[in-house]
Amino acid sequence: MRFDGKTIFVTGGAGFIGSAVVRYLLEATGTGVVNVDKLTYAANLLSIPQAAGHRRYAFAKVDICNAMQLRALFDRHQPDAVMNLAAESHVDRSIDGPGEFIQTNIVGTYTLLQEVLRYWRGLSPSRRAVFRLLHVSTDEVYGSLAAAGSFSEDSPYRPTSPYSASKASSDHLVRAWRETYELPTIITNCSNNYGPYQFPEKLIPHMIIRGIGEEALPIYGDGRNVRDWLHVDDHAKALALVVERGEVGATYNIGGRSERANLDVVKTICDLLDRLTPTPSGPRHRLISFVTDRPGHDRRYAIDATKIERELGWRAEENFESGLRKTVTWYLENRPWWQAILVRGYEAKRVGLVDAPPHGEDCADKHQARATPLLVWPTRSGVKKVGPSDY
Ligand code: NAD
Ligand code: TYD
Repeated sequence: MRFDGKTIFVTGGAGFIGSAVVRYLLEATGTGVVNVDKLTYAANLLSIPQAAGHRRYAFAKVDICNAMQLRALFDRHQPDAVMNLAAESHVDRSIDGPGEFIQTNIVGTYTLLQEVLRYWRGLSPSRRAVFRLLHVSTDEVYGSLAAAGSFSEDSPYRPTSPYSASKASSDHLVRAWRETYELPTIITNCSNNYGPYQFPEKLIPHMIIRGIGEEALPIYGDGRNVRDWLHVDDHAKALALVVERGEVGATYNIGGRSERANLDVVKTICDLLDRLTPTPSGPRHRLISFVTDRPGHDRRYAIDATKIERELGWRAEENFESGLRKTVTWYLENRPWWQAILVRGYEAKRVGLVDAPPHGEDCADKHQARATPLLVWPTRSGVKKVGPSDY
């Protein structure tokens, strides 16, 4: 790999996709990895079993909104690339509490861009030429599709949820830093991922874990909403390829050409569980229950992955049926990983129903009025804290 013997920062490396990227870089390349993660509820360092004692791995508990900490980290490790996966990522949570999404996904990306720019400008010309910032984003920035068609790299941005709007904003910032400051950035927009080590709030692990426990399986709306599924290891390989060979300034859409309606996904999970761990109570289809729809629920996503396939030779290796079988098997065989999350207090309860609208409470109470500053920004004359008193 172009970055063998060099160092890559993976932000959000303790999350679902970030940890798959870290595992891939450690297993399949000779790259040094610094995992930069704030360790939110979604993080889990146990998702990188090969990290313990690995000589090419380091972990830094750093918030990408904290410029001072980022600056110290760049000065210390001198990376040759940054892969930005740090984000708040769950649509339902973004409905109840958009503030964290604005903070990490927008302010965090801005803070990271500024620190990367400062660092990149200080590099030698040869290292500057090698350096890349890969910003990892989602197909949800393009909004919702009708029954036909798919998202290309030229599709207009039409985000509909606080999550997708915050991701769209971050993409715009990254593009602006490329155009204005010539920072060598690349953006990827990927479809829904599934696979091992996914936090159980997302559809597939949520249904697997509830199905194992023979609990109700809540389908939002009519269950005909369509998502385009990609195995997380295929995504990790695509990201490694893009950071290595992608064109600076370009966008690549990544997807598995595996569109499925939610109801069909859940029925398949039921069938797999019935086969792998049968229950005397009978087939798990009986657990399926239709519940109030998600507000602003996007109907359909589908990615046209022609560009990355044609230009970089990437192709999804896992097909959805075999990938889902492996994933269900993984959750059955790795119960301690997800049971620890339940023990820590995650209740797998329904969130994001707008019965209590955000009405500024999230902003006013959780962010502006909290004692800690919103941004800690290094200036020539010292540290400027931008916080409650500045509003
Ligand atoms: P995740 O929620 O599983 O993990 C996010 C990680 O980021 C966590 O480890 C968390 O601790 C860390 N983090 C959050 N805020 C941070 C901050 N301020 N500073 C540093 N670290 C912080 O998310 P994921 O599913 O792995 O998604 C990773 C990226 O991929 C996101 O940008 C997401 O938008 C994008 N994406 C996800 C999917 C999907 O299906 N999950 C699909 C396409 C794109
Ligand atoms: P999710 O995994 O939250 O991903 P996203 O909203 O980013 O696509 O949800 C995937 C789909 O599954 C989405 O259409 C909402 C639906 N869904 C349910 O029907 N029930 C559930 O319990 C969850 C978590 C999601």
